[in-house]
Amino acid sequence: MKTTIEKIKSMKGRENIAVLTAYDYPTAKAMDECGVDIILIGDSLGMVVLGYENTLSVTMDDMLRHTGAVARGTKNALIVADMPANSYNDKEMAALNAEALIKSGADTVKIENEPEIAKFLVDNKIDVMGHIGLTPQTATDFKVQGKDKETADKLIRLAKELEKAGCYSVVLECIPSELAKRITKSISIPTIGIGAGPYCDGQVLVVNDILGLYDKFSPKFVKKYADFGKDMKAAFEKYTEDVKEGKFPEDRHSFH
Ligand code: KIV
Repeated sequence: MKTTIEKIKSMKGRENIAVLTAYDYPTAKAMDECGVDIILIGDSLGMVVLGYENTLSVTMDDMLRHTGAVARGTKNALIVADMPANSYNDKEMAALNAEALIKSGADTVKIENEPEIAKFLVDNKIDVMGHIGLTPQTATDFKVQGKDKETADKLIRLAKELEKAGCYSVVLECIPSELAKRITKSISIPTIGIGAGPYCDGQVLVVNDILGLYDKFSPKFVKKYADFGKDMKAAFEKYTEDVKEGKFPEDRHSFH
């Protein structure tokens, strides 16, 4: 059955929400068949798939193409598309671009910070997931956020503003567990943590990180569930060796 925003909201305090990123059809299909609640086409696409240094080079065209691919592989999970950097600089621009992502197959969009833009989108019938803490599109300092009282209070206020703006959930990235716990307790919408400890209502990770497919760096909060990078290289090496030595194709791979 298709996961709805209402279902995600109702899971708060009752069932942990499992979220993963995906960028293509086969990965989304596998996740969907395994019961992942939300599939996020994150702008992490830029780094883990397109080979950029950060997320800032990701365009609306990139997001539209990959959102379409994920949507074609997904029957049940809620599909969330990240709005890339500079696609929501003002309200009108945000609405146009969010609508394009929805047309490509997303059920909802995600933006970083910006409660006023979130409210405008919600008022225009576009469901929004918020994202606070370490927000890569504007970050200058890529480390744990909210460690002192002032920045922690700021994040609590921002979470409340996003709730008030009508967001149905909010991602908390790279903040101390105790602060994530306070935020989770202080708002009625689900929090989805990444590097935010165990007290969030759900967890999200980047699929390439958990499958061992991104080796540039691995943050402390990542749990690696497979080493596909290693398996992939072993397969490529074996194929190359087989071709060089004339061991592939065999008779069973040939037409007569
Ligand atoms: O771009 C992304 O993958 C994200 C998650 C890390 C939350 O925003």
